[in-house]
Amino acid sequence: MTFPSIALHFAFAAGLFATASACAAAGAAENYMGNCAVCHLPGIAGAPKVGDKAQWTRRVRAGISIVYRNALQGVPNTAMTAKGGHDNLSDADVKAIVDYMVDAAAIDENVLRAAAVYDKLGITDRDFIALDADYDGYLTRKELAGDAVLLRNLQRFDRNRDGRLTETEYREAEATLERERASVDVPDENLVAAVRAALKTIPGIDLRNTKVEAQRGVLAMIGIVDSAEVANRAYAAVKRIDGIKKIDNRLVSAHQMAFD
Ligand code: HEC
Repeated sequence: MTFPSIALHFAFAAGLFATASACAAAGAAENYMGNCAVCHLPGIAGAPKVGDKAQWTRRVRAGISIVYRNALQGVPNTAMTAKGGHDNLSDADVKAIVDYMVDAAAIDENVLRAAAVYDKLGITDRDFIALDADYDGYLTRKELAGDAVLLRNLQRFDRNRDGRLTETEYREAEATLERERASVDVPDENLVAAVRAALKTIPGIDLRNTKVEAQRGVLAMIGIVDSAEVANRAYAAVKRIDGIKKIDNRLVSAHQMAFD
């Protein structure tokens, strides 16, 4: 693909802009154009597009400090490397670009407030945060309604007996349930059938084009789905199925395919 030449083009443009302006906000916009737009403008490889409110809301909701960290250190196993591959940028430069990108998404006030709460509470687990519908830092029965297994086990993991899960309790629950799931032996063909049945309920997955394989309990899901969100939902839908030792989620969105 033409990726390097586009990058060079932007880098050149940014160089010109940089000398022209000393304003910090404008500097962030230029730095964005020069270093990040190559992926974040078209949304290459699953990069959240600048201005895509839904994408940025999902990410920012979990607290701005994690978003900064991901920009500075990169997101493992994705095309987002540390500082987007631009070591020449200072940490402050990168944070200013992130602020610029977040601003451009025009995220709702209540989400920004929630992000501030999670930052303050030090809550970072995005799976936990995705379930915390009222942004209060706890998972109630109502918020866990979609997860029958976790609900059934709530008392076991609710160590402080307040009828809801804290982030720590939730993490422990996830780890324990995963171990228990893996300790059960189920024939591979039964696993595949259970997984296909679970995936069938998720919009955005075409089962005719999705390969589900199991080898001694190690599950692989392979295919192209509508979006990265759908791939996450698929994972959530199968992660409680007994007998799965490990999940290799190779469901990718069309965007990611374009990059590979
Ligand atoms: C080679 C492509 C590429 C470049 C260049 C790039 N990014 Fe990314 N970026 C990605 C991808 C892909 C993701 C999504 C990763 C994931 O799956 O969560 C991402 C995600 C992000 C996120 C969201 C992190 C979160 O917490 O969810 C931020 C912020 C970000 N990039 C900032 C930047 C900045 C700032 C630059 C420029 C300095 C940059 N990116 C350059 C590909 C890129």
